[in-house]
Amino acid sequence: MTTSTDPNSPLSLALAQLRGAADLEALKALERDLLGKSGPAGQILASIPTLPPEERKSAGARANEIKRALEEALSARKRELEDVALAAERTGGDFDATLPPAPLERGGLHPVTRVVRDLEDLFTSMGYTILDGPEVELDWYNFEALNIPKDHPARDAQDTFYCDPEGRVVLRTHTSPVQIRAMERMKPPFRAIVPGKVFRNEAVDASHEHTFHQMEGLVVGKDVSVGHLIGAMKTLLRGVFGKDIEIRLRPGYFPFVEPGFELDARCPFCSTGCRVCKQSTWIELLPCGMVHPNVLKSGGIDPEQWTGFAFGLGLSRLVMLRYGIDDVRHLLSGDLRFLEQF
Ligand code: PHE
Repeated sequence: MTTSTDPNSPLSLALAQLRGAADLEALKALERDLLGKSGPAGQILASIPTLPPEERKSAGARANEIKRALEEALSARKRELEDVALAAERTGGDFDATLPPAPLERGGLHPVTRVVRDLEDLFTSMGYTILDGPEVELDWYNFEALNIPKDHPARDAQDTFYCDPEGRVVLRTHTSPVQIRAMERMKPPFRAIVPGKVFRNEAVDASHEHTFHQMEGLVVGKDVSVGHLIGAMKTLLRGVFGKDIEIRLRPGYFPFVEPGFELDARCPFCSTGCRVCKQSTWIELLPCGMVHPNVLKSGGIDPEQWTGFAFGLGLSRLVMLRYGIDDVRHLLSGDLRFLEQF
C-alpha cells in the first residue's frame, strides 16, 4: 500500500477536515467537496488520460483507495455526530421539566349563547317548555297560518329569502312559525319559548343583519289576559337586568296578535337619558300581544275555549344591550378579538 503519511498530502488534509466536522451539516458540505470531482480522488481520476499507459492502473487503484478512506472517515464522523445528537435528545436537551407549562387556550361561550341560557333558566323556572323549529320553513307556517295571507302588506315588511321559485319554502323571517307548530303538538294549557335564528333579506349595517336571533314566547290557557302578559314581561326584565323595571305598552300592529303591542322598558342604564335610550329614558324592548283567534284556529285550538299571549324578543338586540355591543355584525363575525372578550 502506498498510503501517504505526509500530513500535508491532499488525503491527510481531507481526512483531518472530515474528522473535525462540527456538525452534520458541515459534514454534508465536506462530502460534496471532498468526494466529488474536485476532491483528491476525483483529481487523480481526471488526470489518468494524461498519464503514460503503464502508470494508469496504479493511479486508478490509488484513487479508489483514497475514496474508500474518505468514505470511511465520513461515515465514522457521521456516526459520532448522530450519537451526540441522540444523547442530547435523551437527556432532554434544553427541556426544563421544572418550568410551568404554557397556558392552555380556553374557549368561551358566545354572548348569544350566554343570554339564551340565562333566559332558558328563567323561563323554565316559570314552567315554560323550550321548543325548536326548522330554519327552512314552509310559507304556511311562516305567514299563512299566522294570519298573513299571500297579498297581505305585512309580507313586504319582512324581506324574505325564498328557497324555491314557487315561494312555498322560505328561510323563516321570525320564530313565530313555531307558535303554530307548538299548538299542533301540545295540548293547551302550555307555555313555551323558542330561541332561534331568523333570516331577512336586508341591507346589512350596524343595526341590521341578514341573520339574527329571536326568542318567541307563547302561552295558551284558560282566560289568559294582557295582565298575564305584563306580569311575564316584568319577570323577564327582572331576570335580565337584575332589578324591577317599569314598562309601558304602546299599540303595535302584527296580523297574528289582537290587540298587539310594542312593549317599552325604562332604560336600565340611566334615569335621565343616555346614548342607549337615545335620551328618551325608554327602550323599545319587544313586540307582543294576545294571540289572534285565526292563529289559534290554524294551530287547531278552539279560540272560544282558549286564549293566549305571544311575544317576540329580539335576542340579538338584547345581547347588544346587555354587553354594550354597538354593531350587530360583531355577533356573527367569528372574530376572535371580539369573542375573547366574553
Ligand atoms: N314575529 C314578529 C316579528 O318578528 C314579532 C312578534 C312576535 C310580534 C310575537 C308579536 C308577537 O316581527
